[in-house]
Amino acid sequence: MTKLSNELTPANTHTGGLSRRAMVQVSTSLAAAPIVMPLVGCAGASGSLPKSAAVPSEPNPVIMRMNLQVNGNAYPLTIDGRTSLLDALREHMNLKGSKKGCDHGQCGACTVLIDGRRVNSCLSLAVMHEGQAITTIEGLSSGDALHPMQAAFIKHDGFQCGYCTPGQICSSVGMLAEAKAGMHSHVTQDLQGAAAALSDEEIRERMSGNICRCSAYPNIVAAIRDVSGAAA
Ligand code: FES
Ligand code: FES
Repeated sequence: MTKLSNELTPANTHTGGLSRRAMVQVSTSLAAAPIVMPLVGCAGASGSLPKSAAVPSEPNPVIMRMNLQVNGNAYPLTIDGRTSLLDALREHMNLKGSKKGCDHGQCGACTVLIDGRRVNSCLSLAVMHEGQAITTIEGLSSGDALHPMQAAFIKHDGFQCGYCTPGQICSSVGMLAEAKAGMHSHVTQDLQGAAAALSDEEIRERMSGNICRCSAYPNIVAAIRDVSGAAA
């Protein structure tokens, strides 16, 4: 890029049919535009930008009625059918414990339990879960009595900023149920054995979909180990 910068000419000098000013305008608009347009079609012989850019409009919402069961409560909703379960929880049910980290299924901050199985709620449409039992971090405790996993996270300092913690706790509860049901992981050695013994390696592998930007991993593993009953 240094070479290009050195070759830049005064503002009224044309380079490849475009003035420097037009090139800067095109570059700026391309960087800001949601859809990149072909450069050839953007500038005419004069180097000017097209009067109107073809930016697609938002499709009309498809409003749907649904009835979700969350933490034992019924939530009748009338919302856009494209709403993710995470957005439905946070924006339409005021259950903000589930966090939006990436919104792309990469961090696990949005993990909830659906019929006992852990799910990234950002990757799932709310309307898909009518008739299923959805449990969020708000539903794990019984009144003032914390779920054992919540208590273990506090006991072992399994968090720092806490942003990933609701997802970590929901995921670990689902993960222990998976192990108890005899589901193996990528690092399970004895595939013929009964329920996998949860070594630290097993815990780390099974929790690898939950990212902690504060790197509280050793304490998270300690908390899960404590609840699972495995020895350190
Ligand atoms: Fe769902 Fe990151 S917000 S996986
Ligand atoms: Fe901060 Fe995990 S405690 S991201």
